[in-house]
Amino acid sequence: MNKSNIILIGFMGVGKGTIARSLVKNSSMFAIDTDDLIESMENQKIKKIFEVNGEAYFRALEKKCALWLEDNIKNNTIISTGGGFYKQENIKQIGKVIYLQSSFDGIINRIKNSENAQKKLKKRPLLQNLEEAKKLYNIRVSEYEAIADITVNVENKDIIDITNEILKNI
Ligand code: S3P
Repeated sequence: MNKSNIILIGFMGVGKGTIARSLVKNSSMFAIDTDDLIESMENQKIKKIFEVNGEAYFRALEKKCALWLEDNIKNNTIISTGGGFYKQENIKQIGKVIYLQSSFDGIINRIKNSENAQKKLKKRPLLQNLEEAKKLYNIRVSEYEAIADITVNVENKDIIDITNEILKNI
């Protein structure tokens, strides 16, 4: 049976990619990631795209990616997204939107306690200054919540419990 696409939204470092991989392992769905699509469109890492062309250019690529997803990816797909992708006007046309929620400190601790923590921080242009990142987080939390079809709290939870909660609700 076909299932609607699932779109994972949430702040940088909350675990969208990790949860997407766990959903794939535990369902018959496949996954794609908007940042990966954008990197392949440009043949360049996100960090470099920000450095060379700036954030507005990156946001235009996200829009192109959103339109492509709406036209081409019809069902059975888990789509993990960059932290700002939730602003795409057509997001609800792509699939069911699931917001992965955590406190800002929970997210930073998750990154800091992970393997390759430095690499994970370095590759994210909007996480270079944690004060600025916290401001961005505070602006976005209510917007994530407002756009979501389902909100799942992920802080201090096991991946498998988060996975099961999502699969139960789709
Ligand atoms: C961004 C989040 C990043 C990436 C880009 C911008 C954002 O993805 O898309 O650096 O605006 O929050 P992750 O959420 O996977 O870090």
